[in-house]
Amino acid sequence: MASSTTLSPAIAPSQLCSGKNGMNRCANVAIAKFGKGRGMKVKCMATSVPADRVPDMGKRELMNLLLLGAVALPATGMLLPYTYFFVPPGSGGGDGGTPAKDALGNDVVAEEWLKTHGPGDRTLTQGLRGDPTYLVVENDRSLATYGINAVCTHLGCVVPWNKAENKFMCPCHGSQYNNQGKVVRGPAPLSLALAHADLDDGKVVFVPWVETDFRTGENPWWS
Ligand code: FES
Repeated sequence: MASSTTLSPAIAPSQLCSGKNGMNRCANVAIAKFGKGRGMKVKCMATSVPADRVPDMGKRELMNLLLLGAVALPATGMLLPYTYFFVPPGSGGGDGGTPAKDALGNDVVAEEWLKTHGPGDRTLTQGLRGDPTYLVVENDRSLATYGINAVCTHLGCVVPWNKAENKFMCPCHGSQYNNQGKVVRGPAPLSLALAHADLDDGKVVFVPWVETDFRTGENPWWS
């Protein structure tokens, strides 16, 4: 099929060659001759794309779905690790509490723990909401029924245990807490938070502490 038209100088011949759906329906454009006036005459040797070569709507939708799947699967694979990173593994909790994890991420089994942690020991584990939490070994070699949250109540540094001083001593601004986490020197305004350290089938499980703080006789500030 061929057709001719007169072009304004502002219109390039190639602009005539777009058809529906963005398909180029004009195979050849030949300038036949220049007109006398302002325009020029072109002959468009238009050829239609055969109907059997135009994908029907069903095929195009299928191809779109395949493309979407090809993009979505790798994207989901990349997003999952970020999700696990930003959602602490201990945030689930529930009635059974949150299992304490050791430095390697393993559940703390009380019997095994006490073989390697002697009287007076305070060692960090992962507690509620992923907070660093001290497990306490009493002088009779049993595990204390409470854990001590190691996050300083001043500005949030992790407070190390100083065995020689028998205190928790914050390296950031000098706050101090006794061996149960009660604040004894500022600028920290409050004692370290508590959590119950219960046993479930031999494993240590942290449970939120909502009762009176036995160190101060006051309601827990953290709940
Ligand atoms: S953060 Fe511990 S004293 Fe400031």
